[in-house]
Amino acid sequence: EKRLRVSEALSGTDLGTNVKVQGWVRSVRPQKTNLFLHVNDGSSLQSLQVVAGSELNDPSLTFGSAVEVTGILKKSPRQTQPVELEAEQIHVVGKCNPLDFPFKIKDRHSLEYIRQFPHLRCRTNAFSSLLRIRSEATAAIHSYFKENGFLQIHTPIITSNDCEGAGELFQVEPSGPEHEEDENYFSVPAFLTVSGQLHLEVMSGAFSRVYTFGPTFRAENSQSRRHLAEFYMVEAEVSFTQSLEDLTKVMEGMFRSATEHVLARCAEDVDLFHKHVTPGHRGTVEAMMKRRFPVITYSEAIDILNSSSETFVFPTTWGCDLQTEHEKYLVKHCGNTPVFVTDYPYDLKPFYARDNLDGPKHTAAAVDLLVPGVGELCGGSLREERLDLLSARLEAVGLEETYSWYLDLRRFGSVPHGGFGLGFDRFLQCVLGVDNIKDVIPFPRFSHSCPL
Ligand code: 4AD
Ligand code: MG
Repeated sequence: EKRLRVSEALSGTDLGTNVKVQGWVRSVRPQKTNLFLHVNDGSSLQSLQVVAGSELNDPSLTFGSAVEVTGILKKSPRQTQPVELEAEQIHVVGKCNPLDFPFKIKDRHSLEYIRQFPHLRCRTNAFSSLLRIRSEATAAIHSYFKENGFLQIHTPIITSNDCEGAGELFQVEPSGPEHEEDENYFSVPAFLTVSGQLHLEVMSGAFSRVYTFGPTFRAENSQSRRHLAEFYMVEAEVSFTQSLEDLTKVMEGMFRSATEHVLARCAEDVDLFHKHVTPGHRGTVEAMMKRRFPVITYSEAIDILNSSSETFVFPTTWGCDLQTEHEKYLVKHCGNTPVFVTDYPYDLKPFYARDNLDGPKHTAAAVDLLVPGVGELCGGSLREERLDLLSARLEAVGLEETYSWYLDLRRFGSVPHGGFGLGFDRFLQCVLGVDNIKDVIPFPRFSHSCPL
């Protein structure tokens, strides 16, 4: 017999064929003469209905057990599915005691409940949909960059720089008996990367358009709905830029193309979220896609916030950092659509941000993309490509030595360039309307939690 995935069996191309399907039982309904099973193997949200004579019933056929079913694929007489498998043989590969298994057939478990079982939650419909969407969105982002002439760079995970200078680093040291004497393996302090930006800047100096998509690490203290200690970031760097618009175009283009791709290719899985997890979110996503994302300056944002009737926990004055509450307000103010905020106070931005040489309100050519439900999704800037300005700024903070290689990039064929980073997990939160970032990543890591 032919071995088929559930999605292949459901496609209807093998009607009348003898097939074998393997998967996990999602429901069992014994009736007088027949036994009905639903079998799911992760290939789609849909499970395959299996119909068997009651003589094939076996007490170990329970919710969660692993089975191998052989039989003939038939057109289903029932409305609910086009295809069903008429079983000739059902083999229980792995039992699952329903009393101990944390998920129950009838219950629709909340994302919060299933989060307690990071090793088992992929067996639920919601989380398996999430993981299929996550995989498709990853593919969509890679295709966007490929279609737009970007070269993918594998930037390092272990690095000796603190790109953002925010002091949220995890230090890397060897462990184990062979290394007891070896306190300084790399001869310099080494860390898990907080951003691949500086390495991308190296590469943009030869390839013009580069990107990287990988894990990044931050020792965040906040127990927030949008921060993880390990998250995935998409970063791009573009050479020969003229203005921030060269970056916002890529940010918006990638956001739109990945969102459209996911809505089209994972329609059923996305529906599960839009119908059952955050009803009404579909409308928000459709509205986001309708018009170009507005652009406001940081100064305009401060004016908007200052003239609002809302009372914020953190008061706003020119020069302050935008807090989540401010970001959410700005998104709403702009019509619940993604909005770019540009030209932040120079002193708020890391050393690499390009000086706008303005004043008295001194700004840098930086841009954030704020989105509904999440707030900050992307952060980017033009980079200071002028050697004198950059070395003066590094010298002022005593980092000229550390970044001598970075200054070299400005010595040998420096060009105006810039880039941005998009928080991939936050992107999924935004498209699906998921409140907590821990529910969009397979194995969330955050302070006091690294269970497996
Ligand atoms: O704004 P950030 O810190 O920007 C950078 O790291 C730049 N060096 C990127 C670049 O220009 N190449 O981080 C970028 C994005 C944020 O906008 C946010 O969406 C996400 O990464 N992010 C986090 N996501 C989850 N958990 C965290 N702890 C995050 N910190 C940042
Ligand atoms: Mg940022």
